[in-house]
Amino acid sequence: MEERIISSEAGDQDFSFEQSLRPQTLRQYIGQDKVKENLDVFIEAARLRKETLDHVLLYGPPGLGKTTLAAIIANEMNVNLRTTSGPAIERPGDLAAILTALEPGDVLFIDEIHRLPRSIEEILYPAMEDFCLDIVIGKGPSARSVRLDLPPFTLVGATTRAGSLSAPLRDRFGVLCRLEYYNETQLTEIVVRTSEVLETTIGGRAAEEIARRSRGTPRIANRLLKRVRDFAQVRGDGSIDNELAEQALNLLQVDRLGLDHIDHKLLKGIIEKYRGGPVGLETIAATIGEEAHTIEDVYEPYLLQIGFLQRTPRGRIVTPMVYQHFQMEVPSE
Ligand code: ADE
Repeated sequence: MEERIISSEAGDQDFSFEQSLRPQTLRQYIGQDKVKENLDVFIEAARLRKETLDHVLLYGPPGLGKTTLAAIIANEMNVNLRTTSGPAIERPGDLAAILTALEPGDVLFIDEIHRLPRSIEEILYPAMEDFCLDIVIGKGPSARSVRLDLPPFTLVGATTRAGSLSAPLRDRFGVLCRLEYYNETQLTEIVVRTSEVLETTIGGRAAEEIARRSRGTPRIANRLLKRVRDFAQVRGDGSIDNELAEQALNLLQVDRLGLDHIDHKLLKGIIEKYRGGPVGLETIAATIGEEAHTIEDVYEPYLLQIGFLQRTPRGRIVTPMVYQHFQMEVPSE
């Protein structure tokens, strides 16, 4: 996958950066009001009953705050957060080691839970339902199954693809939360909040400009803010005003809607090579040299959300809005 400043995937350097900027409580968390309100009630109820919180599935496009919410849940419940991910768990023993090391009440966060191998998923079923682990000892006719008790815990699963989860796994989550793209007002608030954490002065219009170009995604907003802040430090006096923000964002090649060169390549590719579509996902992937699942998970969701792309049974089509955005003539039927 090509590098892009507006990628909504978490990079390595993002991790500690995001960690330090993250809101720690539901009150500090901006946006996702329905999710927040629900979680607030369920957390309070679990606390009052002195029980663990039911298992939570967080789903939605990347960069919207799933990991942040998992950390907030652990913090609000006053328990430890243990973090792993679907692709990191390769063998049943990996998951058994994690589960047996949990302390009562802990939150176990499994990112990209749709990427857990099916054989490992099955170990999770009794763990989630009865807090126990069935392990097989020995091989062949002398093999026997031993049941180990686990401490009660809360599994928080995160996925960009709720549809790829098996039904038995999905059904074992008591709380399902769908995260939505943020609106510009919420993103502006997040940019202002992050600037305060970074001790950087920013004007209201500059914060709005960064928000507008962040594709509804806080991770992108915070990353753009960090880059604009670099410009302010080197080319200005360290504070961010509207003019400087615009210059910096233009230099970063992030356009007024937050689209970058890869979005441009994808959209213009469909227009120029396939007369605006319909064209199949695999064909688009081959045309722009990206993997089909990367296009589907990373590039497409926002383009669909803003109405630039449509999925039809015969393939993807670009909408007239795209021609207008590129100041091209909209073709007649
Ligand atoms: N930083 C990243 N996401 C955030 C959010 N939803 N609220 C506050 N700060 C954030």
